[in-house]
Amino acid sequence: MKILVINGPNINMLGIREKDIYGEGTYQSLIEFIKNVCDQNDIDVDFFQSNHEGAIIDEIQRAYGKYDGIVINPAAYTHTSVAILDALKAVDIKTVEVHLSNIYEREEFRHNSFVSAACVKTYMGKGFEGYKEAIIFLKNM
Ligand code: DQA
Repeated sequence: MKILVINGPNINMLGIREKDIYGEGTYQSLIEFIKNVCDQNDIDVDFFQSNHEGAIIDEIQRAYGKYDGIVINPAAYTHTSVAILDALKAVDIKTVEVHLSNIYEREEFRHNSFVSAACVKTYMGKGFEGYKEAIIFLKNM
């Protein structure tokens, strides 16, 4: 099984940004955490992080036919991007949405996720653990 983990804008700033919300762990430690989960579950994993909406869409399009699943934290684009939703629908790869924080317990503008409509499941408010649960969910599908 081969999966792609996509992280959106400012996820590369983990460990620096709003630690009270996102915790102390860095983006690099998130990658190590996910690699470890994938090693233990015999899953091949690739990673992509970008602060640019179009780059994320390009990567989703590149994923067409190459992956069995996508785990995506679109970060702020969650709440704004019909284009990322459309890209996920276009490639039709089983996708799980992850948020480190619980977006429903935060500002109202974070309550809507456009991307959810293209995802089989969403995990939120579980920190790094949410990525693990997303990967295990894809594996068990
Ligand atoms: C986030 C939640 C978003 O609202 C926010 O813009 C992020 C991160 C999360 O992982 O909790 O950048 O997706």
